[in-house]
Amino acid sequence: MGSEIIFFMTFFIACKNGIANSYTVPYKEMFFNQTLDHFNCVSFGEKTFQQRYLLKETWWNQGVGPIFFYTGNEGDVAVFWNNTGFIQEIAPKFQALVVYAEHRFYGKSVPSGNDSFKHPIVGLLTIEQALADYAHLLTHLKEELNASQCPVIAFGGSYGGMLSAYFRFKYPNIVDGAIAASAPIYQVAGLTSSSSFFQAVTQTFHNALPNCESQIRKAFQILNQWAAEGVVGFNRIRKTFNLCDDISNLTKFQHFLSWARNAFVFVAMMDYPYSTDFIGKLPGHPVKTMCQQMFSTSAPTKGLAVAVSLFYNASGDKECLDVDKFIPCADPTGCGEGENSRAWDYQACTEVNLEGGSNNVTDMFPELPFTAEMRDEYCLRTWGVTPRRDWLKTHMWGRDIAHSTNIVFSNGDLDPWTQGGVTHNVSSGIHAILIKGGAHHLDLRRSNPADPNSVIVARSFEKMMIYSWIKLARKSKNF
Ligand SMILES: *[C@@H]1O[C@H](CO)[C@@H](O)[C@H](O)[C@H]1NC(C)=O
Ligand SMILES: *[C@@H]1O[C@H](CO)[C@@H](O)[C@H](O)[C@H]1NC(C)=O
Ligand SMILES: *[C@@H]1O[C@H](CO)[C@@H](O)[C@H](O)[C@H]1NC(C)=O
Ligand SMILES: *[C@@H]1O[C@H](CO)[C@@H](O)[C@H](O)[C@H]1NC(C)=O
Ligand SMILES: *[C@@H]1O[C@H](CO)[C@@H](O)[C@H](O)[C@H]1NC(C)=O
Ligand SMILES: *[C@@H]1O[C@H](CO)[C@@H](O)[C@H](O)[C@H]1NC(C)=O
Ligand SMILES: *[C@@H]1O[C@H](CO)[C@@H](O)[C@H](O)[C@H]1NC(C)=O
Ligand SMILES: *[C@@H]1O[C@H](CO)[C@@H](O)[C@H](O)[C@H]1NC(C)=O
Repeated sequence: MGSEIIFFMTFFIACKNGIANSYTVPYKEMFFNQTLDHFNCVSFGEKTFQQRYLLKETWWNQGVGPIFFYTGNEGDVAVFWNNTGFIQEIAPKFQALVVYAEHRFYGKSVPSGNDSFKHPIVGLLTIEQALADYAHLLTHLKEELNASQCPVIAFGGSYGGMLSAYFRFKYPNIVDGAIAASAPIYQVAGLTSSSSFFQAVTQTFHNALPNCESQIRKAFQILNQWAAEGVVGFNRIRKTFNLCDDISNLTKFQHFLSWARNAFVFVAMMDYPYSTDFIGKLPGHPVKTMCQQMFSTSAPTKGLAVAVSLFYNASGDKECLDVDKFIPCADPTGCGEGENSRAWDYQACTEVNLEGGSNNVTDMFPELPFTAEMRDEYCLRTWGVTPRRDWLKTHMWGRDIAHSTNIVFSNGDLDPWTQGGVTHNVSSGIHAILIKGGAHHLDLRRSNPADPNSVIVARSFEKMMIYSWIKLARKSKNF
């Protein structure tokens, strides 16, 4: 088997360039009559909702080839289809059926219109329910497509990566292996230091260009001095940053600072070596560009304004920058816009723990804390709930993940979420790979000529693992 794997790996490396630029193939958009409450036969009885999934059968060796299943995360699943080309790129070689499932309460899979975000229905927005959806959907698909014996591999990035790992933890009867990219499973279970996230963002900028970090610190320091001057200072900030609205008081000023901080968070996450349009349009190596822009004028504050515009005015069509579009929520890195952001806010108020803020000591940002008390107060006020701080650690195993097998956790050293994920090989079945020069789940993206060698190696390792899991599954089922 060993030599077979090596052959397989070489084969993929050789083929990589040939398929690099073929564009995303369309999929069939499907809806599944999904059970609304998997765990309580009384409250919602037989109620169902329409869960969206994207299906691609073209490459499948029908009834024989494996099923590649993307465990959808906090957004429109079509966005993940567009940004997870790795699966589509390898599926033909594996002759796989490709399914991207949308997470309940997101995109087109919102169960009950506007009532979805009210009590009691919003209470059905949990990780347990989402995983049960995926298990139920797969069981149904296997039946309908005569695929009962076909091995299943789960894929996911970020929260989706957490889900693909959890899916393997909880349903090893249904999923044979999982690629969990940039999945901060320890952080969201409250097992990492609350300061490490913004420290990691700072590190990425620190490493990109000498003095970048210190210039950013300087800029924020000057902004604080301006704010201390009151109205005159606030107006100066508005003018420097070309803001749509006045900063009227210190609360607004703090909001402005969180908004500015967030540009750095997203650019660090999206620090891909080529231009992308995932969470906003960005050039290749945007962290370096942002650092260069910090020095594009002699005034650090103006440099900061130019730098944050890289993210907020990426489209180049903003006449002014709208700070109010950034909505503070239970995730200090922001929840996005629209209905999807409400769903994520609720999850960050219940199971997913993203407490922690910036402190201007271990990180380069102004002191903007987000403590357990602040989260409790916010979540009670916004959702009428109190976060279940320790539950994820209990039911998703905390650090005791060696009980599972057949999972690859991948992380990139540029990505601030890496510090919250699995970065050491845990056992002979739980693998960790580190992608040097990699941002947020770079490995799940379609291959690109600008890819660093590290991600090419990572993808080869993942393909090799997938191959071995499929082989193992077939052997155990005699199929
Ligand atoms: C979905 O399932 C429920 C319960 O089994 C059933 O009552 C309903 O008719 C189904 N809806 C669709 C659209 O198939
Ligand atoms: C996915 O990419 C295609 C092609 O660029 C684009 O037309 C489509 O709008 C994208 N879908 C989403 C949801 O971003
Ligand atoms: C849901 O709320 C939106 C915005 O408040 C409103 O425009 C829409 O009509 C509502 N839909 C339903 C079905 O009530
Ligand atoms: C599944 O198998 C049954 C019985 O062999 C057959 O009637 C049906 O057409 C098959 N379905 C698909 C999607 O191949
Ligand atoms: C950060 O801390 C330094 C040292 O205490 C201080 O001089 C600076 O004003 C602080 N910056 C901000 C933005 O609060
Ligand atoms: C600050 O200003 C905003 C309007 O810009 C206002 O809604 C808010 O109530 C003010 N907060 C305080 C504490 O004065
Ligand atoms: C956004 O970018 C465009 C094009 O570079 C520029 O004309 C405009 O002034 C920018 N807007 C802001 C608010 O900086
Ligand atoms: C984990 O083990 C694999 C070999 O199985 C190795 O390639 C990889 O570098 C190791 N990961 C870490 C983080 O040391």
